[in-house]
Order: sequence, then structure tokens, then C-alpha cells
Amino acid sequence: MKIFEKIADTKAYLQQHNNNGKTIGFVPTMGALHEGHLELMRRAKNENDILAVSVFVNPIQFNNPEDLKKYPRDLQKDIDKLEQVGCDVLFSPEVEEMYPGSVTKQYDFGSVETVMEGAFRKGHFNGVAVVVEKLFNIIQPDRAYFGEKDFQQLAIIKRLVEMKNIPVRIIPCPIVREKDGLAMSSRNSRLNEQERSIAPFIYQTLVKSKEKSKNMTPDEIRFMVENMFADQKEFRLEYFEVADDVQLHPVYDWSESKGVMGFIAVHLGNIRLIDNIRFI
Ligand code: PAJ
Repeated sequence: MKIFEKIADTKAYLQQHNNNGKTIGFVPTMGALHEGHLELMRRAKNENDILAVSVFVNPIQFNNPEDLKKYPRDLQKDIDKLEQVGCDVLFSPEVEEMYPGSVTKQYDFGSVETVMEGAFRKGHFNGVAVVVEKLFNIIQPDRAYFGEKDFQQLAIIKRLVEMKNIPVRIIPCPIVREKDGLAMSSRNSRLNEQERSIAPFIYQTLVKSKEKSKNMTPDEIRFMVENMFADQKEFRLEYFEVADDVQLHPVYDWSESKGVMGFIAVHLGNIRLIDNIRFI
């Protein structure tokens, strides 16, 4: 595996492959790699000649400075995992390399960025879009792989690619879960033992809401989930929303959209966790 920290070196190296007609599959990450990330990479490796991965904890997408400070970082451990999945190129720049000056770029993604994660994490998606556009420019991938765990992020990236006419195919990948149902996340490592043991309640609630969705209206489902969390003192529910899978607008009748999903954000101790489930 080739490891680069500099943009110019990465570009020059990957350009050769591009010129030789090789396809590049790209998985952007913030490191602290787990099976969820590795699944994206295995797929990218399978579907392309070259697997490129970035590890960069992007400061401008963190709205909470404490979260940025405490974000788990262990590049050597990540490198070992990347070797195992057969990664060809790792790009892991310093902050100064990505952002030599102040960042002023502002995107307008419309209403998809103002609901749910966009409403609760101001500026988050703008920061994601800035870094992903830069990374696409550096790597020039044929395909880029994103997890449905961050479903709204995926919707934003699809809009970004459309708006900027970036020649890349965005490949959505299903959520990878622990055996007990908890969606894998780099932040899970920051849960203490007691928090970790009750964390599967989040997915259990989503599964129950899906079962009940056959006989309940979306509002009844919202009410049920809010009540389930009201009884659980360790959790603080930030939002649970039933929304369509394109615009991510709230849905009040199941017939309103062909694709309807449940989205949740919960605080457990000091850790904020998100998850989602498809109803239709
Ligand atoms: P990060 O949280 O490291 O996630 C990198 C990719 O892995 C994202 O596409 C995310 O959706 C996917 N992923 C994480 N956990 C997953 C799981 N349990 N199952 C399936 N996929 C999973 O998302 C980011 O980094 C950043 O916002 C980034 C796109 C790199 C921009 O900085």
C-alpha cells in the first residue's frame, strides 16, 4: 500500500493509473476503522482495479469542539486493517494540507440539509461537502462508496455530485451492525461498559417501529418511539423522524412516498448515536 500525505503526490500517482485506463474505487473515512468501513472497502476493491481510501478527521464538519477533540484516532491500527483489505492507496493529510487558508465556501443543498442532522448539527453538511468535493478532486475516483448509516450524508453527496457535475458514481452500501444490532460506529468505542450494554435499545426500537408501522400511522409511530425513550433515563432522544428517502421530508401518510424510512439520533452518556431503518 502506498501512503501519501501530500495532495500533489497523491494526484500524480493516481493520474498514472487513470491514464492506464484503470478504475479507481474510493472510500473516504475519518479513520478509527471498523467492519462498517471495511465492508465498503471490500466492495470497492471488488468492483475496481484500484482501492483508494482517505483517513482525515475533518475539523470543519464538527459543530462540537469536544467531539472533535475526543474523536478516536489511531493511524497505525488503521494502516494494519487497510493492508488486510488490500488497499492500494491511503491518503492521510494533515489539516494544513487540506485547509491552508480559511474555508468560506457555502453550498445550498436546499431543504435536505435543514432537517434532522442538518437542523441539529449546524454547518455539519457544509463541512462534509467541502471535504468530499476536495477529496473527489484529488482522487478522481470512478466510484465512491458511502454507508447508509449516514443516510442524510449520502443524500447530500448525491446532490453535490449532481450540482457540480462531478464524474463519479456514488454507491450506497447497507448498514453493518454488531451481533446485538447496534450500528457500527467509530464513536461506539467511547461508550462505557454499561452504556455499551444498553445501546442496542436504539435498533430494537427501530425494529419495533417497523413492525408496528403496518398498523399505525406515521404520527402514531413517532409518539410510540418518543414514549419508549421517555421511559429510558440513560438515553436522551434528540429526534425520531419518519421521512421519505429522497428529500428526507417528514411523512404523515404511508402513501405519500414510494420510500419511507425512520431516522433517529440519541444521546447515550456523552455520545451521540444515529441510526435508521427502512419502512417501505
Ligand atoms: P466516517 O464516519 O469515518 O464514515 C466513513 C464511511 O463509512 C461513511 O460513508 C459512513 O456512512 C460509512 N459507515 C460508517 N459506519 C458504517 C456502518 N456501520 N455501516 C455501513 N457504513 C458505515 O462519514 C464520514 O466518515 C465523513 O463524514 C466523511 C464522508 C469521510 C467526510 O469527512
